[in-house]
Amino acid sequence: MVTPYNDSRGKKEQVKDMFDNISARYDLLNHLLTFGIDIHWRKKAVSCLKPHSPRILLDVATGTGDFAMEALTLKPEKIIGIDLSDKMMDYGRAKARKAGAENIVEFMTGDCEQLPFANNTFDAITVGFGVRNFENLEKGLSEMLRVLKPGGHAVILEATQPQNTIIRHLFSFYFVRIVPMIGRLISKDARAYAYLPESVGAFPAGSAFVERAMAVGFREVTWKPLTWGACALYLMKK
Ligand SMILES: C[S@@+](CC[C@H](N)C(=O)[O-])C[C@H]1O[C@@H](n2cnc3c(N)ncnc32)[C@H](O)[C@@H]1O
Repeated sequence: MVTPYNDSRGKKEQVKDMFDNISARYDLLNHLLTFGIDIHWRKKAVSCLKPHSPRILLDVATGTGDFAMEALTLKPEKIIGIDLSDKMMDYGRAKARKAGAENIVEFMTGDCEQLPFANNTFDAITVGFGVRNFENLEKGLSEMLRVLKPGGHAVILEATQPQNTIIRHLFSFYFVRIVPMIGRLISKDARAYAYLPESVGAFPAGSAFVERAMAVGFREVTWKPLTWGACALYLMKK
C-alpha cells in the first residue's frame, strides 16, 4: 500500500499527519502546481449536480473546503464537510466565515470510512482528491452509498495520469520531478508531494475506478477525463 511516510503506522494516521503538516500551504500549492486549473475542475464537477438541485450535501475529505465552498453556488440548505484533519478544515472554516456562509457550510472532524450519519441523509456527495487517500477504498465508497438518498448523486474528482503517450511522458516529468521539488520547498514536508505521484500511479483510474464503484452498488457510473487526462471526473448514482 502506498502511504505518505512509509512507516509502521496505518495509512489513515499518516494521511492525517501529512495533511495537518501541509495545511497552511495546501491551497497555494494546489493552485500553483495545477496552474489554477483545480478551480475549474471543481466548478465543472459542481455543475454536474446543478440539474438535480440538491438541498443537503456532504463534501467527503473536504480538506480546506474548496469543493464545499464551490457547492454554495447550488444554493443548498446545508453542506457538511468532513475530514480527518482539523487543521485543513480550519482554513475551510475561515473561508465559510469570510463568505458569510457559516450557517450553511459546517465542518466536522471524522473518518469517511465510518461516516457518522444515518442511511439516506444526503441529496448529493462531492469528493475532491480524497478517495485516493482512503485506507480502504471499498469502505469509503460503501459509506458514501449508504448515506446518499436513493436517486442521489456523488461526484468525484481524482488526479490521474494522461493516456496519450506523448502527453503522459511530459506530464510524468512534471509530476514526478518538478512537483515533489516545488512541494518540498514550499510545504517543508519532504514526503507529501512525492506521495502525490506515487499514490496517483497506484490508484485505479478511469474504467478501473468505475468497476470498483459499481461493485459496491453505485449505478449509472460514468467518467470523463479533464485537462488531457490529468484529472478524472466520476459521476454516479444511488
Ligand atoms: C488532497 S486533500 C483534498 C481536499 C479537498 N477536497 C480539495 O478538493 O482540495 C485530501 C483530504 O482527504 C482527507 N482524508 C483522507 N482520508 C480520509 C478519511 N478516511 N476520512 C476523512 N478524511 C480523509 C485528508 O485529511 C485531506 O484533507
